[in-house]
Amino acid sequence: MANLRFLVLGTSAGGGLPQWNCNCANCAAARDPASGLRPQTQSSLAVSVDGENWAIFNASPDIRQQIFETPALHPKTLRHSPINSIVITNADVDHIGGLLTVREKQPFGLFATSAIEKVLDANSVFKVLDPDYVKRQTIRLDEDFAPLDGLQARIFAVPGKVALFLEEGEPELGLEGEQTIGVEFLAGSRRAYYIPGCATLPDWLAERIRGADLVFFDGTVFTDDEMIRVGTGVKTGQRMGHMAISGPDGSLAQLSKLDIGRMVYVHINNTNPIWRSGPERAAVESAGFAVGFDGMEIDLA
Ligand code: MLT
Ligand code: MN
Ligand code: ZN
Repeated sequence: MANLRFLVLGTSAGGGLPQWNCNCANCAAARDPASGLRPQTQSSLAVSVDGENWAIFNASPDIRQQIFETPALHPKTLRHSPINSIVITNADVDHIGGLLTVREKQPFGLFATSAIEKVLDANSVFKVLDPDYVKRQTIRLDEDFAPLDGLQARIFAVPGKVALFLEEGEPELGLEGEQTIGVEFLAGSRRAYYIPGCATLPDWLAERIRGADLVFFDGTVFTDDEMIRVGTGVKTGQRMGHMAISGPDGSLAQLSKLDIGRMVYVHINNTNPIWRSGPERAAVESAGFAVGFDGMEIDLA
């Protein structure tokens, strides 16, 4: 039976840790080798069933560094890549910017919903991905697809919003459609999910992921007003399309009820206190949840 192998390539939300123009306590610590807080790259997950061929979920602007730091993703011959496919879960810059890096006439499959493909098509710079090499594959909500031989996956709409750079005025929040998706992975009796952006956890979504072996989930902010409190921004987590970890409706309380084998927070904003030791991280860890980190490996045999 195939294993499901997951490699967290990038754990940070858009901007990374540290973010280039931020000197908040977390970003400052991430610049200080003595702090114990390692820098973290932007949101991406690699998945394999054979350890040889990989599908990358989200092409982060840091993909070049992520590939460099991950021997399993290095070329094995003069021109080669173990990356067979790239799947995009939303069109924010942290999830599509890396497509500009993987442009060197290397064949791979690019899987996205038609709504996300429209965003790529509307930005002519993505024409650097030569269609003779990069095969577009439109994926549909609630239909199976195979990003790799032997890997069964299915996407589903999760509450979200349009990409930040497409906002015109106040965007519709909690929109469920092709613009923000979660991914379900099935192999043998194993079931895992990748949901790096999610605005709320409606009952149908809770039921869907209940009892999963593994869930990677949106850990952008610990409290909804965290960016305002830290002084780095004016937006709440909700306004950015991300549910907070804390609070009665937060992901920690909600996901704790769902008998999930392993819960890992990813897409963590640089303002989030769970990056460092303290009561917030302790709350996450005492619920048995993990704070993701670049290079984290999880095998589901
Ligand atoms: C987000 O997840 O909210 C986006 O990555 C924001 C951004 O594009 O900076
Ligand atoms: Mn993001
Ligand atoms: Zn910061």
